[in-house]
Amino acid sequence: MRYLTAGESHGPELTTIIEGVPAGLTLSIDAINHELARRQGGYGRGGRMKIEKDQVRITSGVRHDKTLGSPITLIVENRDWKNWQKVMSVEAVSEKDQKLRRVAKPRPGHADLVGGMKYQHNDLRNVLERSSARETTMRVAVGAIAKQILAAVDIEIASHVVILGGIEASVPEKLSVKEIQEKTAVSEVNMVDETVEASVKELIDQTKKAGDTIGGVVEVRTDNVPAGLGSYVQWDRKLDGKIAQIMLSINAFKGVEFGIGFEAARQPGSKVMDEIVWDNGYSRTSNHLGGFEGGMTNGEQIIVRGVMKPIPTLYKPLMSVDIDTKEPYKASVERSDSTAVPAASIVAENVVATVLAEELLEQFSADTMDDLQQAVARYRETIKNF
Ligand SMILES: Cc1cc2nc3c(=O)[nH]c(=O)nc-3n(C[C@H](O)[C@H](O)[C@H](O)COP(=O)(O)O)c2cc1C
Repeated sequence: MRYLTAGESHGPELTTIIEGVPAGLTLSIDAINHELARRQGGYGRGGRMKIEKDQVRITSGVRHDKTLGSPITLIVENRDWKNWQKVMSVEAVSEKDQKLRRVAKPRPGHADLVGGMKYQHNDLRNVLERSSARETTMRVAVGAIAKQILAAVDIEIASHVVILGGIEASVPEKLSVKEIQEKTAVSEVNMVDETVEASVKELIDQTKKAGDTIGGVVEVRTDNVPAGLGSYVQWDRKLDGKIAQIMLSINAFKGVEFGIGFEAARQPGSKVMDEIVWDNGYSRTSNHLGGFEGGMTNGEQIIVRGVMKPIPTLYKPLMSVDIDTKEPYKASVERSDSTAVPAASIVAENVVATVLAEELLEQFSADTMDDLQQAVARYRETIKNF
């Protein structure tokens, strides 16, 4: 399975073409829209989320609600486009209109300045329109399809926020996907610890008032992933490496860890490795390594965390330089959120789902969903008997 996303933040629409989804998957459009709505939610989001109610339109690859095996095209319209037609016009516009909403004061922490230097854009809008996290909409839509592929082979995935603006949720060591889903369903910040909910919301409100932003840590967990996805035989086949890459490709993500992650640096080996036991199949007495050994899943939960920096657009802007005059100036302000960590956790969940679905399809190369389900069932039986 492979896909490319396209589209500018204030352009007419976002697009994706996905190739390699097996034929015969009963595709729920509601489930895609549900993921898109989850990405748009979360306490502390700014104005845009009220304008856009993302809805996917599928224009190829699906007939009578079943995938055909042919490329699937997904489209999400930018509903704000009507207010941006001149600014984002594909056709030439007058010299005066070219200056509409021009950006000349790059925001620290954004792609604005370096993107302008690299592509020689005199209007930094040409950079920020694409570097914006609006792009993650399409990656969530792809992930929503990936999740349906995973569900067909009983693999479940969920996400939650572990730290927001320095406030840390208490997370039990054993936490199933179902438990995460139940607990986060009643949280506005996608956390599993209701005791911190009020203080997190208060912090978001205070941060917004102060014109500032906050970041955090998100966690993705999976249940029922069979041992042996990915491989140790070549560096680029290590599945933890692929997941790390996709996590770091999420806008504003600066670090990733599996299981106890960086804490492993402080612990002796005897407290880090997960001992092996056999009781009608292999399992571990703990899961400090987050479900990976040798770049392969080991049958335990995958536990992956990513750290998101605070959003770089500040309503109390930081100092920058005007690219025309080279004079110091306050950075431009685009419509922005005070935090997007809850939304980012949904993005993380969906991009990890996509990597897992890609890996399954590579390992079990199936043209149809029936083939995939049979191959995975056979494989599960084989490793159970090892
Ligand atoms: C879900 C999500 C929403 C985001 N919303 C905003 C936003 O409203 N304003 C902003 O300045 N950055 C936002 N960001 C972060 C920027 O897109 C990101 O910091 C920027 O593109 C620079 O990339 P980098 O931080 O990965 O280096 C968001 C990120 C995510 C994942």
